[in-house]
Amino acid sequence: MIREGLTYDDVLLVPQHSTVKSRSKIDISVRFGRGHKYQYQHPIIPANMKTITGKEMAEVVAQSGGLAILHRFMPVEEQLQTVEYLVNHYGSKHVAVSVGVQNSDKTNIRKFIDLGVDIFCIDIAHGDSQHCEEMVAFIADADKHNTIIAGNVATGRGAERLWKAGATAVKVGVGPGSLCTTRIETGNGVPQLTALMDVAQSRQEMLANPYKSFNLLADKPMQIIADGGIKNAGDVVKALCFADMVMVGNLFAGCVETPGQVLSINGQSFKEYVGSSTHKTNHVEGVAAIVSAKGRFQDVLTKLLEGLRSGCSYQGANNLVELRDNPEFIRITNAGLRESHPHDVILK
Ligand code: XMP
Repeated sequence: MIREGLTYDDVLLVPQHSTVKSRSKIDISVRFGRGHKYQYQHPIIPANMKTITGKEMAEVVAQSGGLAILHRFMPVEEQLQTVEYLVNHYGSKHVAVSVGVQNSDKTNIRKFIDLGVDIFCIDIAHGDSQHCEEMVAFIADADKHNTIIAGNVATGRGAERLWKAGATAVKVGVGPGSLCTTRIETGNGVPQLTALMDVAQSRQEMLANPYKSFNLLADKPMQIIADGGIKNAGDVVKALCFADMVMVGNLFAGCVETPGQVLSINGQSFKEYVGSSTHKTNHVEGVAAIVSAKGRFQDVLTKLLEGLRSGCSYQGANNLVELRDNPEFIRITNAGLRESHPHDVILK
């Protein structure tokens, strides 16, 4: 039998009775990391991509109380210098380092740990792989206090293998990203909402079954990051019904603080937004693009967080934990999607 896969635009959340007095009272902070030791002011992580999270972006993310995951497409010396600066100024809680699964990545882990880094993100296209599990185990062995984000996966089984290998969090998303061509080039992927539901269900089953989670201690919380395909605040709300955090590229691409120059074309301003696979593998599964320049990170973030708070309020959720408590979705048709967007008006 062939299963059906759904993504964000296929569904809506059904509004629920709410006792929330004011949207400003909704708590959108999130506890994350080994032993839930870190608290962040919001659950939105800009993508660890070359055209998104460099030093300047990491600074504004840290200032917003969030988690910045630096991209890894710079020489290691530059990565070390950047990390040292950021950790000294903002503390290790706000700064994570991206690594691959090569021997050179293993050598560098110790250098990052010596600088105070304790959050690592293993960032490979097919995270449900032996390489990735080995790298998770390596980082876990290097220091048992490390928080390890590993991915990407698109199935509950894949997530389970990484959690069991020692990952604190898995990154979910194979092919949903706005620049990704993985699904077209390889025929592989899972529509993002179904992938998230599958991973969240595996987590629930593992928590309910002590045998399945026998080697997972309370300090390894099996967290989930929804990565890619987020187009608006509504998608953030839908993703956070299953995930602890979301990773967002496109919506922040073009922000003032992203790396790269502003390009002026026919009097309009643009910045580059480039798929990670274009700088790392022989088989390219992404595209290079430009997007309109879009102002400051904090302004884009504030709008997303306003939408998130409103979404929680429609769900009667006082916080993000309550948002994940049995959300009710309804599947919509193309007519429903058309009805959801502004229609039959001329936008000013
Ligand atoms: P959005 O939709 O927010 O997605 O722009 C960002 C995420 O897309 C992933 N990414 C890629 N996936 N080929 C891929 O298949 C690529 O070249 C590529 N570059 C980025 C990544 O997970 C990112 O966070």
